[in-house]
This record gives sequence, structure tokens and C-alpha cells, in this order.
Amino acid sequence: MTKIYDFKQTINQEELQKTAQVLRNGGLVIFPTETVYGVGANALRKDAVDHIFEAKGRANDNPLIVHIHDFKQLDELACDISEMEKKLIDAFFPGPFTLILKKKEVVPDNVSAHLDTVGIRMPSNKIAHEILKCADVPVAAPSANISSRPSGTKIEDIKEEFDGKVDIIIDGGPSDIGIESTVVRVIDNIPTILRPGKITPEDIKDVVGIVSIDKHIFEKAEGVVRSPGMKYKHYAPKSPCTLIYSDDEKTQIDLVNENITPGTVVIGFKEHENKIYCDQFVAHGSIHNYDEISHNIFTLLRKVDTYNPTQILIEGVKKEGIGIAIMNRLIRSSNYHYIEK
Ligand code: TXA
Ligand code: MG
Repeated sequence: MTKIYDFKQTINQEELQKTAQVLRNGGLVIFPTETVYGVGANALRKDAVDHIFEAKGRANDNPLIVHIHDFKQLDELACDISEMEKKLIDAFFPGPFTLILKKKEVVPDNVSAHLDTVGIRMPSNKIAHEILKCADVPVAAPSANISSRPSGTKIEDIKEEFDGKVDIIIDGGPSDIGIESTVVRVIDNIPTILRPGKITPEDIKDVVGIVSIDKHIFEKAEGVVRSPGMKYKHYAPKSPCTLIYSDDEKTQIDLVNENITPGTVVIGFKEHENKIYCDQFVAHGSIHNYDEISHNIFTLLRKVDTYNPTQILIEGVKKEGIGIAIMNRLIRSSNYHYIEK
């Protein structure tokens, strides 16, 4: 039986202690972070980590991120941390940022999918921090969604798919950012973004003067890739999806209208609601506020399926700032069906 604890208003201390104990003892807990919800297990217990892969239906060559609350935990899990890596940690921990580091022996092979590295993140969300602190073990946690589906950013969206598969679900309200952390690995002394997020290339460049973006961010990845997660179908609604983008706003609206067929649902800018002629229009946010779009997008990708559309058309955003992360997720939601003019 899965228990749901409501921490939206306050963190119940007794339930917090129970949650920490379940984690320490090898159980599974869904918990909020500032990016998306995670399905967590004690990262030092191989058997517990195996249960995450089972619950999500996740391929076992896709490594997990380990979550910590204290800088001391870094040295327990990772070694050979370079000066540049230290600067990135100082700048972006705690926050929506994951750093891939050389792993120590204690990290079980299933956490890192047999790589010699481990992704580490220190969430800034208060509830996540309290759980990690109280459990006092590093917690391996992928996004809370069945593999291939949009990541969970609201308990209402995911409680059915995880009912009976996890011990505890902590409801902390909707995730603030709504898109997963920026994943970075320093390669040949260049911080390389393997997955874009709220921490942008500019943010990283401001700290260490240099940044690179992995080429797979907007391309289909096959075979050996630096971040195995990029290979897999992800963020997908059940209905077929097309992403549409133009630098010119009017052209973008025209492109959407040209592609509408009966039963189409459009996810687009609220400013375009009266300019796009479809059966059902759902706003992802404002053309002037990409944070709003990031916050809403995963829950909308789930919601539109309930309308049983013949197809979903999504208005894309400029690939700048957090727009890079939004487009990275949307290109994959649409299974690379992308129209740009
Ligand atoms: O915001 C987030 O990062 C959320 C919350 C729960 O913290 N977690 C999350 O985990 O998105 P997941 O498992 O859904 O995505 C982890 C990504 C995958 O693309 C995986 O391939 C990559 O990080 N990754 C993890 N460890 C890695 C490693 N050692 N080397 C390369 N890529 C790694
Ligand atoms: Mg995920």
C-alpha cells in the first residue's frame, strides 16, 4: 500500500521521520524537488536501486542521479574533483544542476549503469532537503514518471502510475521549475551540457568562462552517447505530436493554422489563443515568460491526452535561456516531428 503524505503547507515531523526510515531501509519514496518529482531510494543499496528501475520500467543502461544535502557527502561518493568542477559546485549547489563526477567504489553499479561516473545533485527544495537530511543517506532518484512519459510535476498526474509500486508519496505541490536539472560533465576541462535545464549555458560561462553543448540536445541519439538518457523515447504524450517554430511570430501562427486537421489540440502561447483556429487550444504560457512555460509543460502534455486528440501541435520557443531546455524536451515529446520555417 502506498501512503500519501501532504507536506504542501507544513512538513509533518512524524511523517518525515517515517519517510527517512523507509529510505534508509531500502524502500521507495516519491518526493518533490524544485525541478520535478523524483522516485528515490537509498543510493548505497543495490537492491533498493533495482526497485526504482522496476517501478519505472527504466532501461538499466540509463544511470541515475544521486541526491545529497551536504557538501561532505560529495567526498563519500566522488573522487578526483577538479578545480573547475569545484567552481561549478560552489556556484550551482544547491539548485537545479547535476554534475557528473568520477565515482567511488561505494556507489553501486546499477546507480551508474556500470559507468565509472556518477551524477550528483543537491536540490534546493526545502522538503527535499529535509528528507535527505533526515534520511542521512544519499538518495538515487530519477524523475517520477513511467519511462517514456512526461516527468511528474504534480502528484495528481503520477499517483495512479505509481500506486502500489512505491512506499510513500510526498505531496509538495506543483514543481517550481517543472523541467529537470541541467546535467553537466567537464570534458577536457570544458563544462559540457549533456541535458539543458534552468541553469543555462550563459550561467555556466559566467562562472568558468567557457561552456559547450552536447550535439545530441536537438538530434536523435543512437548507439554510444555521453548521457544514455538521450537515447530513449521520453516526455511523450500518447497522441502524435508535432513541434512548430519560426523566429517570426506571424509565420509561426500561420504554420500552426496550416497544420490543423479535425480533432487537433494546440498547445501554444496564451497571446495566440484568438489567432489559432483549432478545436481545443491550451496555453502553455506567455510569449514573454518562458519560466511559466517550463513550469506548465509536463502537466499539459499529460492533460491534452485526456481530450483524445487526433494530433497535438505545440508552439515552440526561441532556443535561448531556459528556452533551450524547453525545446530539448518538446522535440523529444514530438518524437523529432519538427517543422521550422
Ligand atoms: O531534476 C532532475 O535531475 C530530476 C530530479 C528528480 O532530481 N532527476 C532526473 O533524473 O531527471 P533522470 O534519471 O530522469 O534523468 C537523469 C539524466 C539521464 O538523462 C541520465 O542519462 C543522465 O542524467 N545521467 C545520470 N548519470 C549519468 C552519468 N553518470 N553519465 C552521464 N549521464 C548521466
Ligand atoms: Mg527522466
